Amino acid sequence: MKKIFVTGGAGFIGSNLCGFLLDKGHEVTAYDSLLLGRREFFKDFEENPRFRFVEADLLDREALSGEIKGHDLVFHMAANSDISRGAKHTDVDLKLGTIATYNVLETMRGGGVGEIVFASTSAVYGDELRVVPTPEDYGPLFPISFYGASKLACEALISAFCHNYGIRAWIFRFANIIGRNGTHGAAFDFVERLKKDPSVLRVLGDGRQAKPYLHVSDCIEGMWFGYERAVEHLNYFNLSVEGATSVRVIAETAIRESGLTGTRIEYTGGERGWAGDVPQVRLDGGKLAGLGWTASRSSDEAVKLGVKELVEQSATNWRTK
Ligand SMILES: NC(=O)c1ccc[n+]([C@@H]2O[C@H](COP(=O)([O-])OP(=O)(O)OC[C@H]3O[C@@H](n4cnc5c(N)ncnc54)[C@H](O)[C@@H]3O)[C@@H](O)[C@H]2O)c1
Repeated sequence: MKKIFVTGGAGFIGSNLCGFLLDKGHEVTAYDSLLLGRREFFKDFEENPRFRFVEADLLDREALSGEIKGHDLVFHMAANSDISRGAKHTDVDLKLGTIATYNVLETMRGGGVGEIVFASTSAVYGDELRVVPTPEDYGPLFPISFYGASKLACEALISAFCHNYGIRAWIFRFANIIGRNGTHGAAFDFVERLKKDPSVLRVLGDGRQAKPYLHVSDCIEGMWFGYERAVEHLNYFNLSVEGATSVRVIAETAIRESGLTGTRIEYTGGERGWAGDVPQVRLDGGKLAGLGWTASRSSDEAVKLGVKELVEQSATNWRTK
């Protein structure tokens, strides 16, 4: 049994991860400010004696250093997950991404915590790439969003802490993740908007933006597999699936899974959903596949299941506190 510290533990991926780690028999501390996460995501395991929740901010270094020490491993999942917010407020990703990650690493060093698994993103690669699907050794890396820039800075900080202080790291550059407890992203927005107005669905861009979608269960299995098998000091992987799903298909799936017919889809036009959005993403998952892991579902299958789960969860009105 390991003592595992999950930052962003009340968020979409973090809450699913806490359940997974508890099922594996580990002791789990979820650390989250509840800025974007939700306490009700703990309902399936909050009574578990191996689970503990700390409501605090990663920017509060004193609180963090008191809580992180004594753990064996950190899953650092916390960040500003709303990419478009970074374009409006240019210091959001700097604070919630880069500085928060520095605080995690510095308190790990101070508290003698030796291992970190980090949630990075395909957004570090940037746009109009020369190699598609894009492998991990692609470069130079020039992200086009503040979110991607922050994640790349986090990767660099992790590398420096690994080199100087012997910390071991597993960096995973995620595709788009979808599933239960989702709180943001195209599928989530569509499901919520259809609930308010089933007659018309407004979609940003021309609907042809296409990205690989990974179900959250595959994301977590993939991270755990990589953590257990990859033996370098600093390990880094794309965590993805072959192919991609277009925004148009996600919109149609959301309409169908919501049990609607006759909804009009209105595209705002343009190849990009918003400034900083990378409209076409394809990731090469060959490095993790080389160790023996591939996703259990295709991108389209992940979207179908993820949208179904979001519709079911939305129907329970879980969002009204
Ligand atoms: N969901 C995706 O498609 C996707 C894709 C690529 C990368 N990622 C990365 O995976 C990680 C998890 O994403 P998610 O989709 O679960 O997002 P999420 O917003 O659901 O979860 C992030 C959690 O971090 C918490 N948090 C943010 N700032 C904090 C702070 N300063 N102190 C304490 N807690 C803080 C939020 O309250 C939230 O609960 C993030 O790092 C995200 O950038 C997600």
